[in-house]
Amino acid sequence: MDIGTVGVVGCGLMGSGIAEIAAKSDFDVKVREVSKDFLEAGEKRIRKSMDRAVEKEKLSAEDRDAAWARLSFTTEISDLAECDLVIEAIVEELAAKNALFGELDGLCGENTIFASNTSSLTITDMAAATSRPDRFVGLHFFNPVPVMKLVEVVRTIATSDETFERAFAFSKAVGKVPITAKDNSGFVVNLLLVPYMLDAIRQLERGVASVRDIDTGMTLGCGYPMGPFLLCDFVGIDTLYRISEIMFEEYREERYAPPPLLRRIVALGRYGRKTGRGFYDWSGDEPVPLPV
Ligand code: CAA
Ligand code: NAD
Repeated sequence: MDIGTVGVVGCGLMGSGIAEIAAKSDFDVKVREVSKDFLEAGEKRIRKSMDRAVEKEKLSAEDRDAAWARLSFTTEISDLAECDLVIEAIVEELAAKNALFGELDGLCGENTIFASNTSSLTITDMAAATSRPDRFVGLHFFNPVPVMKLVEVVRTIATSDETFERAFAFSKAVGKVPITAKDNSGFVVNLLLVPYMLDAIRQLERGVASVRDIDTGMTLGCGYPMGPFLLCDFVGIDTLYRISEIMFEEYREERYAPPPLLRRIVALGRYGRKTGRGFYDWSGDEPVPLPV
């Protein structure tokens, strides 16, 4: 596979999880954030998740310490120059991702593979803006990364067989089950999952039932691990809104359109569990539905 050092750009919900599983799987990992504050918050998230795994006896303290020692944190993009694979997990915006990959393209060696964890953008739109579309793939992990077993490995019509195989082997090496997906917006899972979440918001707008009752309905009625509104808060309302806009722009189908209520919740800065408020208030022991 020929991958030893992995760069992870963005240490939010997803980047922190990706960095954690890569370090636990014996890769050296360099994590880059935009500022010291974001870097510290990401570091804390990784540490907390690893400590929790030790408490639950899923990881030995010795293995946690070894994994921690393989992680390094930086705000300097130049520190990623020597990475064999760089995985991007920054905000869901094409311009921001392309600006980042443009910088990396000038820094990293010929053999470095670029991967995006995007939920809804096409990999081709990012790959085409670099000088290495043949060494560019999608590696779409799921939240929470340490728990969810799936990775969608996305190849574009320009991705080389060698790049795809290296990315596929990496996904297995970090303990995931990879599936191959075509480069269409939403890949496999989000094509089905995003309309479901948006539909739950539309049913709420129609007054079908309360947030709590819709969540209870889908959890107890269908055996889903969490209801759609808990899931929205879990994914991030800001991220879901961007995903919805991108997928609607791509397909022009109503099922992907952001419902007005979603836009209003974003406007209020209620981004979900990560900011303490979304469809639910997360400040207490249990999430409590907020007015909608
Ligand atoms: N980090 C590490 N481990 C975590 C974790 C986290 N953030 N959250 C939970 N866990 C672990 C716990 O340690 C626990 O492990 P054990 O069973 O071995 O003790 C296990 O996960 C279950 O956790 P809990 O008992 O605390 O809670 P739970 O039973 O309610 O499960 C959950 C939590 C795994 C998140 C579960 O509710 C679930 O599967 N929810 C659905 C998640 C989902 O659908 N994710 C996909 C989101 S969409 C996406 O990712 C794509 C996109 O592009 C937007
Ligand atoms: P997040 O908001 O939790 O984290 C994004 C992080 O990226 C922030 O900490 C921000 O400071 C940082 N960042 C922004 N620009 C940067 C740059 N140029 N360099 C370094 N860091 C930068 O978002 P997230 O939920 O982790 O999502 C990240 C990506 O993963 C998005 O593309 C999203 O669509 C995708 N994704 C999200 C989920 C989910 O459930 N949240 C699941 C799968 C994929």
